[in-house]
Amino acid sequence: MSNAQAYVAAGLVGLAALILLVAWLTADPAEPDLQPGKQAFDRALAQAYVDAGCWQCHSIQTLREELAENFGRPAAGELPLGPDLSGIATQYHPDWHVAHFAVPDQVVHGSQMPAQRHLFEGDKLNELGRNVVKFLMTLDAPGTLRKPWPTGDHKAPVGNAESGRALFAQHCAGCHGDAGLGEGPAAHWFVGTRPPAKLAQGEAYRLGNNPGDSVYATLTNGLPGTGMPSFHELSDQQRANLTEHVLELLGKRE
Ligand code: HEC
Ligand code: HEC
Repeated sequence: MSNAQAYVAAGLVGLAALILLVAWLTADPAEPDLQPGKQAFDRALAQAYVDAGCWQCHSIQTLREELAENFGRPAAGELPLGPDLSGIATQYHPDWHVAHFAVPDQVVHGSQMPAQRHLFEGDKLNELGRNVVKFLMTLDAPGTLRKPWPTGDHKAPVGNAESGRALFAQHCAGCHGDAGLGEGPAAHWFVGTRPPAKLAQGEAYRLGNNPGDSVYATLTNGLPGTGMPSFHELSDQQRANLTEHVLELLGKRE
């Protein structure tokens, strides 16, 4: 090894040591890498969640200790069948939850969650149901198990309307109706917020200059706090195909 090479090698070793030292000094050894956010705990509302039986299938990472301390081990969701619910309050309007309890598979395509009939009196929530929804709306601290909905602008790839129509029947018709007239079976429960848009009557409030990109962004990001979910789990191409069908419904393609 020449002198110059030796200097470079020693420099690199020194630099690596410095990086490791800084990483070690700035990491808090008490905290795991991905620390879920802090979550306020309301015992009375959490009781409703337990009484309703939700804890049998769901975990709440941000309340793991509180639930276990107050209600025993299974309450922490050791073997969740459904998604972790940390942070769910930042995504849906309360009416989304009511519709989801009433007709889960109309709200989420292929849902395995059973309808929660014990939370209803006629077609309105009973007290237990209202408290469960209140509890869900306290879950505003993000965990690490739920992917947050994306944000930001998105450019729509070229879509295929025919395939979009089939996807619409699966993922959208439960709320927006097969014909896009806002008459899906889940629409009934959207009473305290704007109901599913009557797309076939041209109803859409966020179209801007480029309707294709706007619809595509709505499908990607959802409309947090409303009843309109994000479909970021579908592929870019599927969302582009849906966008093409929605543009036809809106009369932006003829
Ligand atoms: C038998 C198991 C089971 C029970 C009991 C159950 N769920 Fe679920 N839940 C699921 C499954 C599976 C999903 C995923 C499919 C879906 O989104 O509908 C789900 C989804 C959800 C979602 C949507 C999560 C998301 O990321 O979009 C919420 C909110 C929810 N459940 C709340 C509840 C509440 C509140 C209760 C009690 C009243 C409850 N669940 C009872 C199995 C269950
Ligand atoms: C759980 C019910 C529900 C499902 C499922 C649903 N939507 Fe929506 N959607 C809504 C609601 C509620 C609104 C109105 C939101 C608002 O304006 O406050 C809406 C609004 C929209 C809008 C109008 C956005 C704007 O510019 O104002 C479009 C476009 C749309 N949905 C497309 C779709 C498509 C495509 C699907 C299926 C991939 C879908 N939605 C699935 C409930 C739903």
